[in-house]
Amino acid sequence: MPVLKIHHIGYLVKKIEKAQKTFEALGYCTEQDIIYDDIRKVNICFLVKDDYRVELVSPAAEDSVVSGLIKKYKNSPYHICYETDDFPAAYDELTSNGFIAIDTPTPAPALNNCEVVFLSNAAIGMIELINRSRS
Ligand code: NI
Repeated sequence: MPVLKIHHIGYLVKKIEKAQKTFEALGYCTEQDIIYDDIRKVNICFLVKDDYRVELVSPAAEDSVVSGLIKKYKNSPYHICYETDDFPAAYDELTSNGFIAIDTPTPAPALNNCEVVFLSNAAIGMIELINRSRS
């Protein structure tokens, strides 16, 4: 398996501005202010504290990619995101080891349009993989 480096913890929130302010009150610093992802119809904000980065994700439309999830989980962490310099190898290794892709690699506006893909695993739930391959 190529090295997977943790990039962020994805956190579902209903009201992103309130959530951002609340994390700031806990000592997190906003790393990237709220950005609209028009592919997934969500608002996204990155905050950092200590060596951790949290990604706030909030539905911006009825048919956003997280509209179903937020009904189930409410305000809650829901994925860990990993970045890899060898995306094709990591993707192959994961999908051969019980991870099922739940979408296709798609640019993420909140991550300088790097490609990301979400995968699901029966034992640990959802992860996200960022393509940092230099090609
Ligand atoms: Ni994420």
